[in-house]
This record gives sequence, C-alpha cells and structure tokens, in this order.
Amino acid sequence: MMANMMEKGITLKSNKTKKTEVSKMKGKVLVLIVAAIALLGAGVALAGISVTKHNLSSGGPGTIKASAGQQNDEICVYCHTPHFANTAGVAPLWNKATPSATYTMYGTTLAGTAPDAAPNGVTKACLSCHDGVSAINSIVNSAGAGGVVTGGTNVAFGTTTAGTAKTMPAGATNIGTNLADDHPVSITYTAGKASLVATTTALTGWEGATTVANLLRSSKVECSSCHDPHTSTNGLFLRKANTGSALCLGCHGK
Ligand code: HEC
Ligand code: HEC
Ligand code: HEC
Ligand code: HEC
Repeated sequence: MMANMMEKGITLKSNKTKKTEVSKMKGKVLVLIVAAIALLGAGVALAGISVTKHNLSSGGPGTIKASAGQQNDEICVYCHTPHFANTAGVAPLWNKATPSATYTMYGTTLAGTAPDAAPNGVTKACLSCHDGVSAINSIVNSAGAGGVVTGGTNVAFGTTTAGTAKTMPAGATNIGTNLADDHPVSITYTAGKASLVATTTALTGWEGATTVANLLRSSKVECSSCHDPHTSTNGLFLRKANTGSALCLGCHGK
C-alpha cells in the first residue's frame, strides 16, 4: 500500500528527485515506527509489575511496602537477587529464606490423588509472604552493595521498623498455613483425572503459557499454575481472567 502510494506520487519526477523523496518518505515512516514502538513499550511497562501490589518498593501502589527514604526503591529485590540467592529451589534467584512453617495439605482428592507432604518450590515462594507467619520484609541480599544476611534480614516496612517481622494482615491475601481449604497445590497433573485435559492442549490469551504443560512445575500444579506474580492485567495476578470460569476450564474439560 505504502509502496503503491509512493510510486503514484512520483511517476513524473526525475530519478534523482525520486530518490530524495523516497528517502524522505522512508525517514518519516521510520519516525512513525519508532514512535509506535515507544508507545507500545510504555503500554507494556504500565501493565507490568510496577502497577501491582507486588511492587513492594516505597513507591508501590499497595499499602504493604517498604518505608520511604530507604535504599529500597527497587522492585525485584523483595523476591530476586542477582547474587547470593537462596539455592534451595524455592524460585529462580530467590532473595528470601525458605519458609519454616508447617503446612496442612489438601488431602486425597476424589480421583485418589494425594498432594506432596509439604509444598514445593514456587508454592513456598508465595507462602513466604502469604502464609501469615513468614516475614514479608525479610530479604537475603539488600539493594546496593553489601548487606548480605544468609537467612534474611527484616527491612523497615511502613510503620514496622527494621529488625521486626511484617507478616500478612488477616484478610483475603492471608492464605494461612492450612492449605486444606485451597485448590490442591503440589499435586501431580494426570490427564483424565478430574476431567483434566491433555498437557499438550493449546491455551489462548494466558499470561506466560501457550499450553497446559507451561502451567505445570515438575508436572505438578503450584500457585504459579494459575497466578503470574509479575502481572495483574487480569486482576489478582491471574494468568487468565476467570470470566465464565475460563481459568478453571483451561485444565478441567468440564
Ligand atoms: C512478589 C515476588 C516477585 C517479585 C517482586 C518479582 N518476581 Fe520474578 N518470580 C517470582 C516467582 C515466585 C517466580 C517463579 C514463577 C513461576 O514458577 O512461574 C518468578 C520467576 C521469575 C522469572 C523466571 C520465569 C519467567 O518469567 O521466565 C524471571 C525472569 C523473573 N521472575 C524476573 C523478575 C523481575 C525482572 C522482577 C522485577 C521487575 C521480578 N521478577 C519481580 C516472584 C517475584
Ligand atoms: C515478597 C512478598 C510476596 C510474595 C513472595 C508474593 N506475594 Fe502476593 N502479595 C504480597 C503483598 C504484600 C500483597 C498485598 C496484600 C494486601 O494488600 O492485602 C500481595 C497480593 C497478592 C494478591 C492479591 C492482589 C490484589 O490485587 O488484590 C494475590 C492474588 C497474590 N499476591 C498472589 C501471589 C502468588 C500466587 C504468589 C507466588 C507466585 C505471591 N503472591 C508471592 C506479597 C507477596
Ligand atoms: C487452580 C487455580 C489456582 C491455584 C492453584 C491458586 N489460586 Fe489463588 N486464586 C485463584 C483464583 C481463580 C482467584 C480469584 C478469586 C477466587 O475466585 O476465589 C485466586 C485468588 C487468590 C488470592 C486473593 C484472595 C482471594 O481469594 O480473593 C490470593 C492471595 C491467592 N489467590 C494466592 C494463591 C496462593 C498463595 C496460591 C498457592 C498456595 C494460589 N493462590 C493457588 C486460582 C488459583
Ligand atoms: C493448572 C491446571 C488446573 C487449573 C487451572 C484448575 N485445576 Fe482444579 N485440579 C487440577 C488438578 C491437577 C487437580 C487434582 C486432580 C486429581 O484428583 O488427580 C484438580 C482438582 C480439582 C477438584 C477436585 C478436588 C477433589 O478433592 O477431588 C476441583 C473441585 C477443582 N480442581 C476445581 C477447580 C476450579 C474451580 C478451578 C478454577 C478456579 C480449577 N480447578 C482450576 C488442576 C487444575
């Protein structure tokens, strides 16, 4: 279309003018493309973690976050660190201690599947802030140079002073240590059981997943099967908005 317009507009002109006009056009097109990419970039940034309650830096939009005036203006630091990470297999480059609480698991399902005796990796990562007993404000490697404390150190959060644990207040975001009243996690996904679809089934419009297999961690359902902690475009960090129970129907062919 663009090439067509260019040809029509310059048919009567000399070859030299033609070249300059074409390059001018190309320049304009380039400027437009660059502007479009910049806008797109801004849009992506807006939908990212910074506008969610998981931005625990002092500038974050939530109420539970670092105190102002600290060096804690970073976002990833409350969960990840590039160095001195916890290598116990909680989550990649994990910057928190492994939670030490004892959890009550879901129990055996109707289809006869029992979850693991204790939560696995990424589920523990979520529980390290959402179990109501682990310190949200505990990190291993503080922002900036130095400040490494194996096992974690509690940084100042809101009115909670440094050295004191800030735990999740009572309410919907406090899942507790009893996981018996939650959808089973750390449980093996077996196609056919509970009408579960094949792991190769394609998913459309899910955050960070194009097949059911992408939702599983070591073939199991964990908190991050349904939630992506980095984006809340669907609300509540859900990988898929649950309108018409679309999230549930992604796995259960009911
Ligand atoms: C509230 C905690 C939290 C914060 C804050 C956070 N992450 Fe994560 N991140 C996680 C968890 C949990 C996982 C494992 C998720 C999974 O199993 O899907 C993870 C996984 C990842 C992964 C590997 C999975 C993937 O997406 O490919 C990358 C990369 C990542 N995070 C980058 C970041 C960056 C960069 C930031 C800061 C801008 C950040 N994260 C902030 C909790 C967090
Ligand atoms: C570093 C601490 C931390 C970790 C790790 C963490 N969260 Fe959160 N999360 C929070 C805080 C703080 C809030 C805000 C709670 C509030 O205001 O009641 C929150 C809120 C939420 C909410 C509610 C969001 C809303 O908009 O109301 C969901 C859902 C959630 N987290 C899921 C998860 C899942 C799933 C994981 C693991 C993949 C996870 N979180 C890991 C700290 C954490
Ligand atoms: C099978 C999918 C699924 C799994 C697994 C899952 N969640 Fe959720 N979660 C949801 C849905 C859907 C919602 C939206 C609210 C609702 O429908 O109750 C939600 C809501 C939440 C909320 C907001 C409170 C609420 O109920 O409104 C938190 C916090 C949360 N989840 C944390 C977690 C944590 C932590 C784990 C792992 C222990 C986890 N979720 C595992 C699907 C899941
Ligand atoms: C990531 C895949 C996945 C998603 C998404 C999912 N489930 Fe499940 N669900 C499972 C697995 C795995 C089991 C255990 C199956 C078994 O018994 O072997 C299960 C079991 C169940 C059971 C049976 C529990 C029992 O005791 O027998 C119910 C009910 C259920 N899910 C409801 C839901 C609802 C409601 C949603 C949406 C909020 C949902 N699931 C989303 C994977 C998923």
